[in-house]
Amino acid sequence: MHETKLFYTPLWEDDLSVAMRDWVDHRERMLSKIYELERASKGVAKTNFGGWQSDDEIYVHPEFGWLMEHILRLSNQVAAEYAPEFKFNNGHIWANINRRNNFNAVHTHPNSLLSGVAYLNVSSEDQGQIQFFDAREGTPTNHWPCFFQLPGRTPLTDDTFSVKPTQGKILFFPSWLKHWVTPNLTDEDRISVSFNLRAT
Ligand SMILES: [Fe+2]
Repeated sequence: MHETKLFYTPLWEDDLSVAMRDWVDHRERMLSKIYELERASKGVAKTNFGGWQSDDEIYVHPEFGWLMEHILRLSNQVAAEYAPEFKFNNGHIWANINRRNNFNAVHTHPNSLLSGVAYLNVSSEDQGQIQFFDAREGTPTNHWPCFFQLPGRTPLTDDTFSVKPTQGKILFFPSWLKHWVTPNLTDEDRISVSFNLRAT
């Protein structure tokens, strides 16, 4: 039978540590800059409960130039899914530090097309996982008994999806996709860079 996927929800993933030859040094420079920015500014309060979040223009610092360019390169691998001949060429990028018990509340990224996150410092899933929620309104898996009979869950029958963070992992997802970040249960800083992309 022919299948049409209606209103599908993609999640794209790549690995910065593979894409970048001097990833270890580059990561160190980005982390140092993030701590320097934190010392210089109390940051912004948005979805973060505790922790520190930078302003959304850290691409102005040379330490993040390669990352911003690479994010745009990767985004344009999927731009055609938004529109033929479409190219992302612009966006915002910000840094997040989540310390013990800090988390990010459920949110979307309004007025953006494609969003994502890259993990710069994380060594354990206990530092907080990003969890996405099914965008299909009324997905019944939580309360229709017939769903309880299923031996496992698939993308057709599940209504949440969690990603274990690993150093260098970068995720892209549609900006309308609801998500949150579970609390950091460790004493190690969870440091990530998030971004919103669109075109001028
Ligand atoms: Fe987010």
